[in-house]
Amino acid sequence: MTIPTLTAQDGTTIPAIGFGTYRLRGEEGADTVARAIDAGYRLIDSASSYENEGAVGAAVRRSGVAREDVLVTSKLPGRHHAHDDAVRTVEESVLRTGLDHLDLYLVHWPNPRVGRFVEAYEALVECRDRGLVRHVGVSNFLPEHLDAVIAATGVTPVVNQVELHPYFPQPLQRAADAERGVVTEAWSPIGRANDLLRDPVVAQVAAAHDVSPVQAILRWHVQLGVVPLPKASSPERQRENLDVFSFELTTHEMNALTGLARADGRTNDQDPAVYEEL
Ligand SMILES: NC(=O)c1ccc[n+]([C@@H]2O[C@H](COP(=O)([O-])OP(=O)(O)OC[C@H]3O[C@@H](n4cnc5c(N)ncnc54)[C@H](OP(=O)(O)O)[C@@H]3O)[C@@H](O)[C@H]2O)c1
Repeated sequence: MTIPTLTAQDGTTIPAIGFGTYRLRGEEGADTVARAIDAGYRLIDSASSYENEGAVGAAVRRSGVAREDVLVTSKLPGRHHAHDDAVRTVEESVLRTGLDHLDLYLVHWPNPRVGRFVEAYEALVECRDRGLVRHVGVSNFLPEHLDAVIAATGVTPVVNQVELHPYFPQPLQRAADAERGVVTEAWSPIGRANDLLRDPVVAQVAAAHDVSPVQAILRWHVQLGVVPLPKASSPERQRENLDVFSFELTTHEMNALTGLARADGRTNDQDPAVYEEL
């Protein structure tokens, strides 16, 4: 399956949907990621803290797909925000994957109380200039965090990866990203398969197009211009989740899904303004 792409402000081409890998580790993880690449995914999410950069790298290396056709992402954990530590962490990530570079490297969380995310981002920009990573980005950054890193470096993050699904649709964050030319990626796009998949509104939209609730939700992301990163273990689910480009939701259906927003819609109460992940 050929996946449509988005073009970031620096000209980077980003697939309209990617593959999440949280909890996929070891040989079984590598096999699962390899199947996802076989199914057609060309944007693979990972993180130093998932302890699976080895599995992701192995899957990419074993796949028959040309290296330049797959975007491999990793992320810098909060405990390594200090400059030299950040650089060593990126070097370790690249070594673990067994690839000669990573494509996207993100500051995983701003950890604003620690207050070193600008230093961390500066280190990633240096790693980019050394060729260790092709593009730098961020994750869980609020608008003020975006402004701080852009002001310090003049380098706009290619992506901001945030929690985003119909129970937490983030209109203000999406607008803030767009104003700055940052592509929004969605983590936990199907709410970690929670109640959202059984929501009657989702069921109704899905039934109208003869697709599954998960497909209706992922199509909603695509039409918002957000890149969802669903994680799925079986080849059937991996293919199902990719198959969202042959139908279109109406404006009414889009609004109905966005209208499911809940004040406490986060899956795990992780507010980047106060949440700390080290
Ligand atoms: N930047 C961050 O701070 C951050 C935070 C969280 C996650 N992430 C990234 O975002 C990715 C996705 O988020 P997530 O893994 O938390 O949640 P998710 O993708 O919203 O949901 C994953 C769950 O949905 C199930 N599932 C997948 N496809 C399905 C289908 N078609 N029908 C029914 N169930 C289905 C999966 O089950 P099976 O696996 O059993 O198929 C798994 O239990 C992560 O893997 C990670 O790469 C980033």
